[in-house]
Amino acid sequence: MSLNNDANKWSGRFSEPVAELVKKYTASVSFDYLLAEFDIQGSLAHAKMLAHQGIISKQDYADIQKGLQEILQDIQSGQFVWDIDLEDVHLNIEKRLTEKIGDAGKRLHTGRSRNDQVATDVRLWLRSVADGVIAKIRQLQTVLLDLAEQHSDTIMPGFTHLQVAQPVTFGHHMLAYFEMLQRDAGRFADVRKRLNYLPLGAAALAGTSYPIDREMVAKELGFDGVCENSLDAVSDRDFAIEFSAAAAVLMMHLSRFSEELILWSSPRFAFVDIADRFCTGSSIMPQKKNPDVPELVRGKTGRVFGHLIALLTLMKAQPLAYNKDNQEDKEPLFDNAQTLLATLEIYADMLRPPVVENGKVVRTGFTVKQDNMRRAVLQGFATATDLADYLVKKGMPFRDAHEVVALAVRHAEDKGLDLADLSLSELKTFSAMIEQDVYDVLKLEGSVASRAHIGGTAPAQVKAAVTRARKLLA
Ligand code: ARG
Repeated sequence: MSLNNDANKWSGRFSEPVAELVKKYTASVSFDYLLAEFDIQGSLAHAKMLAHQGIISKQDYADIQKGLQEILQDIQSGQFVWDIDLEDVHLNIEKRLTEKIGDAGKRLHTGRSRNDQVATDVRLWLRSVADGVIAKIRQLQTVLLDLAEQHSDTIMPGFTHLQVAQPVTFGHHMLAYFEMLQRDAGRFADVRKRLNYLPLGAAALAGTSYPIDREMVAKELGFDGVCENSLDAVSDRDFAIEFSAAAAVLMMHLSRFSEELILWSSPRFAFVDIADRFCTGSSIMPQKKNPDVPELVRGKTGRVFGHLIALLTLMKAQPLAYNKDNQEDKEPLFDNAQTLLATLEIYADMLRPPVVENGKVVRTGFTVKQDNMRRAVLQGFATATDLADYLVKKGMPFRDAHEVVALAVRHAEDKGLDLADLSLSELKTFSAMIEQDVYDVLKLEGSVASRAHIGGTAPAQVKAAVTRARKLLA
């Protein structure tokens, strides 16, 4: 009997080779080659354990180590030739190893299956992505804190229903996004914590009869422990789903932010200016400057949501344990990782303020147009609530105060004035309780400064919140 099986890579069990179409349909190496570095890391740890347990010889382990290190270098330098006939990243690397070192290469797969191998690779890869995402969230948060500090007393209209509601500070608005990102970072840290367990040892599904040491491999690979059940270890991809859920929430936040940047940078609002290098012009309308980056972030949010649904659907009808369906977990995950990392990086860069040296702008950046924000807030009777609160503090029931102010707003609107522009005698026609000190609350500065509790928009609170936030990130 010949051990050579040229017609089919699997075994003598097969009477004909895989059809060309099927080969193309089932191969994953065109995308899972991205796992190569982690596949090698996992194999090195597995081989070390096999040698330690006397399952393979020390010499085999030394050969495997040397061979895998050379393969890693070839992959990193782009010299490695991936072969679709070898289906996936695992078989490509193993075949090359055997070409290099002979029988020792064939012994690497002892006590292991591609099922626990791929589950390990994906976890190792996703762990490093989660770390990268968290680091980039931190960078973006730092930029937001710089903006918040710089604009702790820049007044802008706060909106509800996209109608001017009450004055807020721009710094306060930026800190709202800081909070969202803080929870996002927490979600990724949580995902990382739950995925950091070792599947290897589960083999195909039931475990292995070799005297393996799973704890040793877990330690070697930086896992917090081993997956407790072999069927679960090879089959579930809930960690990929969790990651994608966290990704969807993060993109949802950045999409809301993008929507605001798109509105704010339009000439109608003209609250901010995004540096030209983040925008494009129009091929037909010379006056246009389009906020492409925020628009694309808003657009890419759709595909991240889609990947979450794809992964949930992928999982929902699979019987235990491993099924080939799981090979479909990679492309959505890879795409999510790439989208998240690129989006976070470009966002932080886009929001950096201009760099000024000796009074000259040496690098353009995100600019806040304070005068336009102020003009907008003055147009919307944003201090109407402050007037009502003023009357309440003088003893008027809130509902009555609400009505008095509504009448005053209508009067001011008819005259084309802001409440603060009405004379004291005019204001008094709405309530005799109104006195000279009313102007303190009708003024924008007075309005924001009065919201002086934790979580309020007062400049002093914004500064204090920035200080607390910097400590959190330190
Ligand atoms: N390429 C496969 C995947 O991504 C590796 C595991 C294959 N296992 C199997 N029993 N066919 O899931």
